[in-house]
Amino acid sequence: MSRGLFITFEGIDGAGKSSHIALLADALRSAGREVVLTREPGGTPLAEKLRELLLHEPMDALTEVLLAFAARRDHLRQVIGPALAKGQVVLCDRFTDATFAYQGAGRGFDGEVLSYMELLVQTGIGLNGDLMLSPDVTLWFDLPPMVAAARLADARAPDRFESEPLAFFSRVAQGYADRAAQAPQRIARIDAALEREQVAAQVLAAVAARGWLGAGPHG
Ligand code: TMP
Repeated sequence: MSRGLFITFEGIDGAGKSSHIALLADALRSAGREVVLTREPGGTPLAEKLRELLLHEPMDALTEVLLAFAARRDHLRQVIGPALAKGQVVLCDRFTDATFAYQGAGRGFDGEVLSYMELLVQTGIGLNGDLMLSPDVTLWFDLPPMVAAARLADARAPDRFESEPLAFFSRVAQGYADRAAQAPQRIARIDAALEREQVAAQVLAAVAARGWLGAGPHG
């Protein structure tokens, strides 16, 4: 089975992943890869509408989970699955680890229910057939919540998540750390507290270490 690569980016709000996604896209294109840049929640017209609701309308944790997974299902069927089937590299700003971190650890939503929904939503997509489609690698931008909060303080008007207190982001950060401990092969920790160039170097190194920045198809 030959398919593209699915790379996701995670971290608490303010961890600074956005500019590094663009840099990695450039590096992959220079290596001859076709790159699709996308994000969650979002990535399709329907999922972008669900994103607006999720980020701005008051709702409980179960509703957040349902909207996040509904958006994800559409995104997988319309964008991610077809791109991987064509051999493209999909760079996705957030994916299911965010649901475990934000709704699971942050809101206290049941992790077993999340695992079941993950299986349900990520199965039956494109080339993967009856296997659950998961990222090939996840770059986790790890930054102390205090530092991230200071960075966010200068940002645009905060959404529902960005306006949560520090204690919420401490739980979310712990959620990411737990997830990384459970999937050490897939989740690569990026020390996002370093200087921008050093962060960029870690991102490239994590991808190059898997042999994905050289020429030729991924084996
Ligand atoms: P962004 O601002 O990095 O694009 O992310 C949007 C927000 O949505 C961010 O605060 C994290 C949150 N989020 C969840 O709570 N659950 C999810 O499943 C996803 C994908 C994002």
